[in-house]
Amino acid sequence: MDALLEVREVTKAFDGLVALSGVSLRVRPGQIKALIGPNGAGKTTLFHIIAASLAPTSGDVVFAGRSLVGLPAHRVARLGIARTFQNVQVFPGMTVLEHVLVGLHQQAPASLLSAALRTPALRRAERRLREEAWALVRRLDLEAWAEVPAEVVPFGLLRRVELARALATRPRLLLLDEPGSGLNPAEKQALASELRRARDEGVTVFLVEHDMSMVMELADEVEVLDQGQLIAEGPPAEVQRDPRVVAAYLGEEDGA
Ligand SMILES: Nc1ncnc2c1ncn2[C@@H]1O[C@H](COP(=O)(O)OP(=O)(O)OP(=O)(O)O)[C@@H](O)[C@H]1O
Ligand SMILES: [Mg+2]
Repeated sequence: MDALLEVREVTKAFDGLVALSGVSLRVRPGQIKALIGPNGAGKTTLFHIIAASLAPTSGDVVFAGRSLVGLPAHRVARLGIARTFQNVQVFPGMTVLEHVLVGLHQQAPASLLSAALRTPALRRAERRLREEAWALVRRLDLEAWAEVPAEVVPFGLLRRVELARALATRPRLLLLDEPGSGLNPAEKQALASELRRARDEGVTVFLVEHDMSMVMELADEVEVLDQGQLIAEGPPAEVQRDPRVVAAYLGEEDGA
């Protein structure tokens, strides 16, 4: 099947530093793909480029057949790419439910955002969105926290709030930068089953993850980035045995 996302020969230079060099990869619809690699390999930079919050120095990113390069990030989000961040990003002062509503509004018609038009139809539409928000909050087991401001929610749950907000946009592609980092084993299990469920519902998942046991159990396919270049690609068990991958991670330990 055709790729949903195609990264073509992407290079990114920051001043003197080449963070990505000729990176090409494909993410097929309906798969869970993992991107792994030592610290500083360029994983987050690649995700920023896919989400169009950074422009590549050269190369192209094609999503569902169209190039994303040069589009503003909010357009890319509207095309169906949602993301969560390596450092959790929440809005202080906003409740968990409101975070999910932000995600839902992102896909709602612009007319819904106009508070000036308080028609009955609009109020009905708003009520439907709130019901949908509650459903997502329940699905992610955040009910007890729904009306609490994000800044008092425990960290492990904030990752879930971010995921709920991202899912609320009804994405075709979910980009998750280290969604398991900082989570305890039970929270990681819950995350893995949520991601499988999203995949089963038709969402394609592309995630950066350092926890190899999570990658092994979750990913259909793995891409390995080292110093800005892809060095291996394939099923997780194969990639884990690849001598180049082993060497890249050993190099990291030497440097540590
Ligand atoms: N805005 C920036 N300006 C300059 N250099 C940057 C910038 N963003 C990233 N870099 C550099 O690019 C390289 C890749 O960084 P990136 O954050 O993409 O790595 P990563 O694989 O996500 O690492 P980690 O596993 O630690 O999150 C690093 O050397 C980093 O210092
Ligand atoms: Mg990173």
